[in-house]
Amino acid sequence: MSNIRVNGLRGVELAVHDLKETADFYSNAWGLTAVSGDNGVLYMRAAGKEHHVLAIHERPRAGFLAANFAAADRASVDGLHAKAKAMGCEIVSAPMDLPAIAGGGYGFSVKTPEGQMLNISSDVATHGDGDFRDHSRPQKLSHVVFNVADLDSQERFFTEVLGFRLTDSTARMNFIRCSSYHHSVALARAQGPSLNHMAYEVSNFDGLMRGAGRMKKHGYKIGWGVGRHGPGNNLFSYFIEPNGFVTEYTAEVDTIDEATHVVGTPDYWGKMMNGPDRYGLADPSPELREAMTGKFIDERNKRCEEIIAQKLAS
Ligand SMILES: [Fe+2]
Repeated sequence: MSNIRVNGLRGVELAVHDLKETADFYSNAWGLTAVSGDNGVLYMRAAGKEHHVLAIHERPRAGFLAANFAAADRASVDGLHAKAKAMGCEIVSAPMDLPAIAGGGYGFSVKTPEGQMLNISSDVATHGDGDFRDHSRPQKLSHVVFNVADLDSQERFFTEVLGFRLTDSTARMNFIRCSSYHHSVALARAQGPSLNHMAYEVSNFDGLMRGAGRMKKHGYKIGWGVGRHGPGNNLFSYFIEPNGFVTEYTAEVDTIDEATHVVGTPDYWGKMMNGPDRYGLADPSPELREAMTGKFIDERNKRCEEIIAQKLAS
């Protein structure tokens, strides 16, 4: 593979109505740790070396803001920017030095054809003090899944502009990789652009179960799982967090041998699996299915806008 490509997923950026409530959830129930923050933004780290895996921004409208990806070095960032520009992509900001509070580094921002923002950076500060003793705490952001209206054009953007490769394809979604990790992104056939879910990797089955137990203690039921997916062979448990986003603990994600990997087709996976859980036990709850469409975020935004309009009118 050329060096002019994305080579990892760093994190996700979300807009939320209540920064404190969201920060409490991600610290106490989910298992992340605040690392820096300023002016209504909080950066939270996992146990791994990445500066932050989640940035939460307090905004009047909640929603997905961006996914943050890594490139090898400044030349790769410049090369990806030049390629995106030459291929007619919407550039949000040209390569520049990034704020120290977010770990610094060098990067640019580009939108997918359906308008999802991606930040691509190199040379971001890392932590040297990862604490992996508590298996229930996330180590890294594993993957993000986008709902997309036109899967083919979205996939072409990720593969032709950013250097991703297709790992597996099912009737419902395509799993694409930017490293040996089975998938850092999946694209789900849906109505239009939204965040289907984000997944955080814990170190093993024990960590996944302990994380789910901690969530239960904080009042959050498992919305789907515990189970094991087909493509990626990863363990999963899904939850709806306080803003309505879907968040997943995952473990044991497959790694890919570039020399021998054969892309799994919808036909192959249709014959291999009766559903998305290898064990045949776990079905998503109706609420979780709805949350994966972004419905709860939209409803909450609408309620907030109505309350604000009523206040302004009175
Ligand atoms: Fe997932």
